[in-house]
Amino acid sequence: MNKITNCLLNKNNSCFPVWFMRQAGRYLPEFRKIRQANPDFVKLCLNSELSSEITLQPIKRFELDAAIIFSDILLVPYALGQDLKFINNEGPILSNFALKDFLKAKKGDFNNKLQPVYDAISKTRNKLNKKKSLIAFVGAPWTLLVYMLNLKLSDKTVNLEKFNKNKSENLVILDKLNDFLCTHIQNQFDGGADLVQIFDSWAGLIPSSYLKEYCYEPNKKLVNFCKKNKFPVICFPKGLNNKYVDFLDYVKPDGLSIDYDVDPLWARDNLKNVCLQGGLDPKLLLGDEKKLFYEVDKYLKIFKKTPYIFNLGHGLLPDTNPDVLNNIIKKVHSYK
Ligand code: CP3
Repeated sequence: MNKITNCLLNKNNSCFPVWFMRQAGRYLPEFRKIRQANPDFVKLCLNSELSSEITLQPIKRFELDAAIIFSDILLVPYALGQDLKFINNEGPILSNFALKDFLKAKKGDFNNKLQPVYDAISKTRNKLNKKKSLIAFVGAPWTLLVYMLNLKLSDKTVNLEKFNKNKSENLVILDKLNDFLCTHIQNQFDGGADLVQIFDSWAGLIPSSYLKEYCYEPNKKLVNFCKKNKFPVICFPKGLNNKYVDFLDYVKPDGLSIDYDVDPLWARDNLKNVCLQGGLDPKLLLGDEKKLFYEVDKYLKIFKKTPYIFNLGHGLLPDTNPDVLNNIIKKVHSYK
């Protein structure tokens, strides 16, 4: 059993496994080179040879305990019929959502469209040392819906009026998404993934009175599917603050990734019977190294006796220096 699975399922605390969200990305010159030659991001994600190569780039450079498959959460709405484009410096754009087309989506077509992702997973698993995990991922239904219906007004607010106008319709969409996400998880495990992370990046935009319906319940359905199939699962409901406690009580995943707004000491004392992950602010990697290593040390000390996977409180930023990452990894591995 590899280190991360042992940490997640057996709550083993004999070492700190380490990986990083967005470890395959723009901070690596070798990624930028492939990206420049492949301006269509969706096509790149669906090129199994290249996406496997990108997945393995950080593994070749650093002593990481896991590879995370190079893909994107928005390939699911793409496979369900929405056009997807990534505009430089603007982020992703999905074509207008059409309920009629969405409701007509079929599993066979969905599987065919995403087959290159599953092929990339198999190719990567064959090349990756057995001791290292291969991480699959999905976006949680709420976070996907934010993009599919274009609900975000800013990084702090969501257009709830637009959402509430068609509330019953939206709940139907969430449910159908859940079903396709289970299929996507299953296919990724069939391809050779070892564990799955569920990204609910916009959970923090949901008003508290809606949290159960739009965040906890959809996450729980995915986690229960994983548990039934013995797939280790980590949830990342970003932005929940002290509601992480309610999330954990309700959803009960094997692992829980905390964001940079969560106080690690509070997390250790209030989030029990789960393997915690992450937390360190990615912005610290861009600043003074002394301050950075003081903070890295703080997380290691706090989580010394608990099952903990070292990671960040969100994805690596494109301006990160790869050498800094290397120094963090060495420090984490030499700690216990
Ligand atoms: O290394 C890894 O973590 C694996 C690959 C990965 C990507 N996206 C590749 C990517 C993963 C796990 C994701 C998840 C993802 N995608 C999330 C959840 C995590 C989070 O960041 O909150 C979300 C919300 C998306 C949607 C998305 N994809 C956005 C908003 C953007 C644009 C912003 C940005 O960072 O550029 C993307 C593009 C994207 N996905 C890139 C990469 C490497 C950058 C594309 C480029 O090279 O231009």
